[in-house]
Amino acid sequence: MGTKILAIETSCDETAAAVVEEGTRIVSSVVASQIDIHARYGGVVPEVASRQHLLAVIPVISQAMTGITLQEINGIAVTSGPGLAGSLLVGVNVAKSIALVEELPLFGINHLEAHIYANWLDSNEGRASGVEFPCLCLIVSGGHSDLVLMYGHGQLKKLGQTRDDAAGEAFDKAARILGLGYPGGPAIEKAAGSGTPHLPLPRAWLKDTYDFSFSGLKTALWHLVSRGEVSVADVAASFQLAVTDVLATKTIEAARQLKVKQILLSGGVAANKTLTQRFLAKSPIPFLVPPPHLCTDNAAMVAACGYYHFRSGSTSGYDLDVVPSRGLG
Ligand code: KG4
Ligand code: ZN
Repeated sequence: MGTKILAIETSCDETAAAVVEEGTRIVSSVVASQIDIHARYGGVVPEVASRQHLLAVIPVISQAMTGITLQEINGIAVTSGPGLAGSLLVGVNVAKSIALVEELPLFGINHLEAHIYANWLDSNEGRASGVEFPCLCLIVSGGHSDLVLMYGHGQLKKLGQTRDDAAGEAFDKAARILGLGYPGGPAIEKAAGSGTPHLPLPRAWLKDTYDFSFSGLKTALWHLVSRGEVSVADVAASFQLAVTDVLATKTIEAARQLKVKQILLSGGVAANKTLTQRFLAKSPIPFLVPPPHLCTDNAAMVAACGYYHFRSGSTSGYDLDVVPSRGLG
């Protein structure tokens, strides 16, 4: 029997728990989304999020542990940052309690590192996990657009980040301008399906850096829409193409310069099909991307990451604290 990690994720608006064996095989993975609740406000309300985690966390863990006893679990992994402080506290407290009572090792996991580890999971489609180091990781979520060089497990070097809006945040703001609702990424992708990307929108290349910027694009989109007479579908398609063009082109160029073996995509925006199509069309370097449900927040990725902490013996101790602004590398 392989090593089983129970993981808990409550960093933002998804309450999630999962059991993963040997860092790759998903035994169970449960995600309770709060999207419908926050959609009323057009974004995540931190106070509301913490309370929803409090309500959902025990049922979600119980569901993930269906048919599994705690005696079969070898360690507890929990997201300790970055994220919303009040939300992180719920998961970390529960994880600590279980670890303490069961005398299990506890691992405080970086949410961004966990996103990368979704690439190690055997997906439902049965794609074999075949990560090779060194690799270049693009993490594109609601709060981050990071380019990270990975030499080995736990060996990360951040090369670039967004200077303003994160890629997911840009999708969310653009969707709000277009009246498409929250979360914006899936809404833009759906609307773009019936449009053509012919409208001129700027791309911030930020040459000679590994950084990204999306706020100028958002402003340009606002001007385009406020002038009127444009189809929402065409604006959505043009916006999606502009964001994914910059992400793919800059990542592929960096991967070439750094001579990495692979590119790993992760985070909610990696669920976008136009983004993966651009990598397919343009990248001479092999790239991996998790299936969409493992790109967005889940606990299986936290368990996969926790497994490598377990192997290296880097436990967190029962005085683990949350670090809302925790960085990478
Ligand atoms: O990784 P994630 O679930 O949570 C964070 O850690 O932030 O990412 C959420 C972000 C949101 O901004 C959402 O609009 C975006 O990912 N997203 C997408 C898609 N699905 C989710 N963006 C573009 N296309 C999608 N299909
Ligand atoms: Zn995330």
